[in-house]
Amino acid sequence: MRVLIVGAEGTVGGAAASALRHHEIVKAGRSSGDVRVDLADAASIGAMFEKLGRVDAVVACAGHVHFGPLATMNGEQFMKGLSNKLMGQVNLVLIGKDHVYDHGSFTLTSGVLDRDPIRQGANAATVNAALSGFVLSAAIEMPRGIRINVVSPGLLEASAKKYDGLFPGHEPVSSKRVGLTYVKGVDGALTGKVITVG
Ligand SMILES: NC(=O)c1ccc[n+]([C@@H]2O[C@H](COP(=O)([O-])OP(=O)(O)OC[C@H]3O[C@@H](n4cnc5c(N)ncnc54)[C@H](OP(=O)(O)O)[C@@H]3O)[C@@H](O)[C@H]2O)c1
Repeated sequence: MRVLIVGAEGTVGGAAASALRHHEIVKAGRSSGDVRVDLADAASIGAMFEKLGRVDAVVACAGHVHFGPLATMNGEQFMKGLSNKLMGQVNLVLIGKDHVYDHGSFTLTSGVLDRDPIRQGANAATVNAALSGFVLSAAIEMPRGIRINVVSPGLLEASAKKYDGLFPGHEPVSSKRVGLTYVKGVDGALTGKVITVG
């Protein structure tokens, strides 16, 4: 299968790319990969698909949120997660669905924070929950047998140092386990599911 991975050079995307290496992988990122795309810019998503042609599967492992205390959080900061991680992936589906072969798939990425919250995580938790709602409903209406799921990973072992102290009591999950979850999304039969790992 021809599998597009947005964010393939990142920590989560690298885990997905490694686990999906039995496929033809097309890597995408703002400044890395085989093709350039900025998920925050709908026109850039359209241009990427025009350039690429059709793919069997789209995997999204990119998207930024705001981490910070609720006491000082403002609407502008909150919009970061909504406009970037949420709408970036939603637009990837809305635009990309016409560029995916029949019976293809979308596998998005959320995260643990809507089911196991931490301090400073309100924006991330909201975006993650919204992505769950999106795939649950969108799966009903996806055309031509196209499936859609979202992977919800816990903190990766590879990212534990970067988020030191922010995830007390969370047990980091291996890149191997996270990668395999994307195989469920691409090679499996699930649709409309939140696939949790860690
Ligand atoms: N790491 C974890 O432990 C963990 C756990 C649960 C959920 N997540 C979620 O997984 C996603 C990826 O996290 P990560 O830790 O792998 O991040 P990362 O290591 O910073 O990698 C992000 C990747 O996405 C690309 N990217 C970033 N913004 C983009 C945009 N607007 N358009 C297209 N590509 C973009 C980056 O490449 P360029 O710089 O070239 O664009 C990079 O390849 C995030 O949404 C995060 O919330 C991460």
